[in-house]
Amino acid sequence: MRMYDLIMKKRNGEALTEEEIIFMINSYTKGDIPDYQMSAMMMAIYFRGMNEDETLALTMAMAESGDTLDLSGIAGIKVDKHSTGGVGDKTSLALTPMVAACGAKVAKMSGRGLGHTGGTIDKLESFPGFSTEIELDAFEKNVNEIGISIMGQTKDLAPADKKLYALRDVTATVDQLSLIASSIMSKKLASGADAIVLDVKTGSGAFMKKLPDSVALAEEMVRIGNGAGRKTIAVISDMDQPLGYAVGNALEVQEAIATLRGEGPEDFTELCMTLGSYMLVAGQKAENELQARGMLQEVIDNGKALDKLAEFVQAQGGDPSYVYEPDKLELASIREEIPAPAGGYIQSIVCDEIGICSLILGGGRETKESEIDLSVGLLLHKKVGDKVEAGESLATVYANDADKCRQAKERFLSAYTIASEQREKEALIKKVIVPSSWNE
Ligand code: URA
Repeated sequence: MRMYDLIMKKRNGEALTEEEIIFMINSYTKGDIPDYQMSAMMMAIYFRGMNEDETLALTMAMAESGDTLDLSGIAGIKVDKHSTGGVGDKTSLALTPMVAACGAKVAKMSGRGLGHTGGTIDKLESFPGFSTEIELDAFEKNVNEIGISIMGQTKDLAPADKKLYALRDVTATVDQLSLIASSIMSKKLASGADAIVLDVKTGSGAFMKKLPDSVALAEEMVRIGNGAGRKTIAVISDMDQPLGYAVGNALEVQEAIATLRGEGPEDFTELCMTLGSYMLVAGQKAENELQARGMLQEVIDNGKALDKLAEFVQAQGGDPSYVYEPDKLELASIREEIPAPAGGYIQSIVCDEIGICSLILGGGRETKESEIDLSVGLLLHKKVGDKVEAGESLATVYANDADKCRQAKERFLSAYTIASEQREKEALIKKVIVPSSWNE
């Protein structure tokens, strides 16, 4: 087989066979196919697309290009959750202990934040001592004993995706549906969970800004997951404004803890309830979503979800006292309000701009190597549809540098539109992609 012929075939709009895709991915991972040929192939795929069979074959080939986790040492159905990323998205911090407190087994691999979106690992590291750099043995033991563990992605997980993603990033071929879906799902499949609940974001703070694109991506990932024998469902949720009120690592941890105490923001709580109910059904801990919701509410009301977070933090080397005394989490020393320039109603918030404000303050990464400041961020006081008086605070900025604080405030103001008419709030859950096999 020759890569040249495969490029020509795709360039001419023909479908590649499974055998051809396996050859291409294996050879590229080994270094036998040069970047320039693979770049040409990515561009051909960008313009010609891939059908469902090709996308599944590509995903499987990338998932099998390195280590695949064998979680058979963990009893029961292992459930994973993945978000395509957004601003203020601290969902895993609250959701995973809620679900584990109801008896589900949560075995999750997470990443760090990059660009305007935050990552679960960074947020968890706000707990002094907490580490996700744990061995597989400890990961399995924690899931078996307390029902939850989160580890950083191992170096050899889906190495083909790592190489291809870096290539796509510099050849303008990231935003192609089959390539995104296969990239995300190859890592999920290699991580070994039996069931996967996907949270696909849509809106100005999301990777996919338009609802039809988010739906198409969600459908493709659900098809791949179920095609690979993993029970997979996708919830499409709003990211046209930040989730909850807190943006920034330690601030988000505090908001997640408030949520586990039943005192969280309405939108964030609702998202945790929705995703959690599908995780409990997929993990066969509840018969239906309604029953699952009741179970999730109970573990919030009786404090078991909060206790589960404390157990999880302790099991991974963190100080659990911070779970019960979240005010101990270090927050930046400069605190400044952002006054509304006019009165009226919040019409819109350019969501990724709020993520960029956090990035300016030092709370996010420009490059993979950047060090981040966990103590900085923004606490919003007004969201879309809220009434605001002129001069009233839209948000509090937490900064450690006066100049960065000034820059973030300026940028923040340009992201908010205030108008005299009140705009209706958007629905948080836009759509759920349920496979036909869901109730089997
Ligand atoms: N996230 C991924 O992991 N891969 C993509 O291609 C896009 C987003």
